[in-house]
Amino acid sequence: MRFQDQVAIVTGGADGIGKEIARKMLAEGATVIITDINKAACEETVRGFQAEGFNVHSFPADVSQKNEVIEVVEKTKEQFGKIDVLVNNAGVVRDARITEMEEEDWDLVIDICLKGSFLFAKYTAEHMIAQEYGRIVNIASRAYLGNPGQANYSSAKSGVLGLTKALAKELGKYRITVNAVAPGLIETNALRNHPKYEKIKELQKRDSPIKRVGSTEDVANAVLFFASDASSYITGDILHVTGGRFG
Ligand SMILES: NC(=O)c1ccc[n+]([C@@H]2O[C@H](COP(=O)([O-])OP(=O)(O)OC[C@H]3O[C@@H](n4cnc5c(N)ncnc54)[C@H](O)[C@@H]3O)[C@@H](O)[C@H]2O)c1
Repeated sequence: MRFQDQVAIVTGGADGIGKEIARKMLAEGATVIITDINKAACEETVRGFQAEGFNVHSFPADVSQKNEVIEVVEKTKEQFGKIDVLVNNAGVVRDARITEMEEEDWDLVIDICLKGSFLFAKYTAEHMIAQEYGRIVNIASRAYLGNPGQANYSSAKSGVLGLTKALAKELGKYRITVNAVAPGLIETNALRNHPKYEKIKELQKRDSPIKRVGSTEDVANAVLFFASDASSYITGDILHVTGGRFG
């Protein structure tokens, strides 16, 4: 029960990796605020966890909208008294070759993956500084190394790593650590519904030393390490959850 009496915010927690992170933190005693742009999914996920007896709350919001982020952070502080852990997980892709990529595809991915992480870090850091404790875990991606067709996403995730390293240096003196997890290919509903699911799985098996697609649990285990006291002397770091694939 590493998170007993702790309060955590997980963005994009209605589905996929974020939902698994929330599940594992709840199982280890945390109070979890799940925030997501998809209000219906957010509420359904929270109802499911509440039925299991967990202390979990749904505060829907778009991470790229400053006022919505402030509202989630302030409501969390008012209702639960503190914020120990922030997991910046919300993210989207809008893939296209550079000549086909619309400005809107660029802006949307940067706004959600990068600006959203900045906004949540900025407004939770105020409270973490005051309480002299905090854990910020940013979900990057192996795509920061550069993926064809993902100029927007690769740039956003590289930016997330820059944000991680800058904040680690700023906030360390307040006992706040800031780290990133960079997943490779992870099996989520979106991947399972992909028309080329079987082909993608085969390629992953061929190209990665650990010959399988990653699970949401693989990622959540790494996030919980950074969110816990076991990592209190580690900051500004990146943990790759890629099955050993770095190219
Ligand atoms: N699945 C993978 O293979 C993989 C690999 C590397 C990195 N990642 C990263 O992991 C994170 C989670 O991805 P996932 O695969 O679980 O995706 P997912 O689509 O299953 O879940 C993402 C969640 O974020 C929410 N969301 C989208 N835009 C939002 C916004 N503006 N504000 C708030 N919530 C928003 C969605 O509604 C959804 O519930 C993302 O940051 C993604 O880039 C995923």
